[in-house]
Amino acid sequence: MDEHTKFKQRAKAIYQMLLGIFGLFAVAAFTILFLMLNPDLLKKSGPQVEEMEYTTVPKEDDFDKIENGIHVRTGLVDAEGLMTVVNNCTNCHSAKLVTQNRMNEERWITTIRWMQETQNLWDLGPNEKIIVNYLVSNYPPEKKGRRENLKDIEWYDLN
Ligand code: HEC
Repeated sequence: MDEHTKFKQRAKAIYQMLLGIFGLFAVAAFTILFLMLNPDLLKKSGPQVEEMEYTTVPKEDDFDKIENGIHVRTGLVDAEGLMTVVNNCTNCHSAKLVTQNRMNEERWITTIRWMQETQNLWDLGPNEKIIVNYLVSNYPPEKKGRRENLKDIEWYDLN
């Protein structure tokens, strides 16, 4: 082998090496570009599945659903002031404590004052009127009046 052939072979080897390095760079650059255009490909498939599950259930819609005039989440009657009551009266205890009680205005206010003095209930401000109105309108004292007169009774004939 003469010097000239040796030189040609070495030049060819260097050329091939450079071509290889350039090729690797090209592939890397291409991949980076591709990922920049499609960032979703970097995310794992796990969270994507979860996201799909969430989108099939419209959460917000169901959260404050009203069914047959009842606020499903709390069991409170759907009426003026409902959300004010939900937002102020269901934080510490279940709304059952509210719906189970039937009181007149004075006793509702007394209950609120008692919670404010002993249970850290906050000052309700202008909402107090809305809440008390709601409570008195929807959870007034049960009428304990006389039962209705009996009708169509067969009386015994007492001789
Ligand atoms: C800061 C917490 C808190 C908030 C907010 C709150 N309460 Fe209470 N409430 C309590 C505690 C504590 C009790 C006592 C629970 C028990 O006895 O187990 C109570 C008891 C009650 C009772 C039962 C009283 C009784 O005589 O047994 C009613 C009725 C009531 N709350 C209604 C309401 C209403 C209406 C609101 C909205 C204005 C409200 N609560 C908001 C803390 C709170």
